Amino acid sequence: MLGLYDSGLGGLTVLAALRAAGVDQDVVYFADQAHVPYGDKSDAQLHGYLEENLALLGGLGVDAVVTACNTTCAVAERYGWPATPFPVLDLIATAGRSFVGTPHRRVAVVATVATVRSGAYARAIRAAAPQVEVAEVAAPSLVPIVERGEADSAVARTAVDAVVAQLGPDVDALVYGCTHYPLLDRWFAQALGPRIERIDPAVAQAAAAQRLVAQLDLTPGTSSTAYYTNGDAEAFETAVRRWTGDTAGRVSALVSR
Ligand code: DGL
Repeated sequence: MLGLYDSGLGGLTVLAALRAAGVDQDVVYFADQAHVPYGDKSDAQLHGYLEENLALLGGLGVDAVVTACNTTCAVAERYGWPATPFPVLDLIATAGRSFVGTPHRRVAVVATVATVRSGAYARAIRAAAPQVEVAEVAAPSLVPIVERGEADSAVARTAVDAVVAQLGPDVDALVYGCTHYPLLDRWFAQALGPRIERIDPAVAQAAAAQRLVAQLDLTPGTSSTAYYTNGDAEAFETAVRRWTGDTAGRVSALVSR
């Protein structure tokens, strides 16, 4: 069984990538919505959430954690990963490795304020592809829009346009450095046009997860997911059904921390 966590709905994009890649492990998904958005929190707070999320998933009996939140990976890159008795797949490290042999030269990473502050994405990409110029752009307005259920709205479109307007000239690829942003892909696609490739690190993370499942020799699962939130369980259930199309998955509330 695999564990996934995020501050909220963003990690569902990683879950979708796992299922699209054929990962059939049962999944426990934890949304730490009591603390969303993560992007405006301090490094110390974020490191605490990371520890708590890993401990919670460990307590639910996962064999491995597939991180579905960049912000906590950015903090762990600087301050260390908590020790766990199970492996943890680092989303930013995976994303960086996917740039080996890239044709891109000027890459923009859109991410949360905390992720941009850490510089972890630029380090990870440049470790794999030193010739690539990386610019990191913070987009703090986007996560609250997705969490409010307004991803399809004109407000979302305007907010994405404002982020894209901040990109430097000649950018040839944009990385979704926050797992919430692929839920706004239609607006990014429209604003960027066909010449700028949109890269979702969830795809590489799903491939890495598949390799890890094989390495650990985990018993095949049933592709079922149990969803937990420490926020508003009813609103979370509506969002889960909408974004995953999963009508069978159990959605449960956890006591707020
Ligand atoms: N979706 C998360 C990430 O990838 C956290 C976003 C947030 O809560 O600010 O960083």
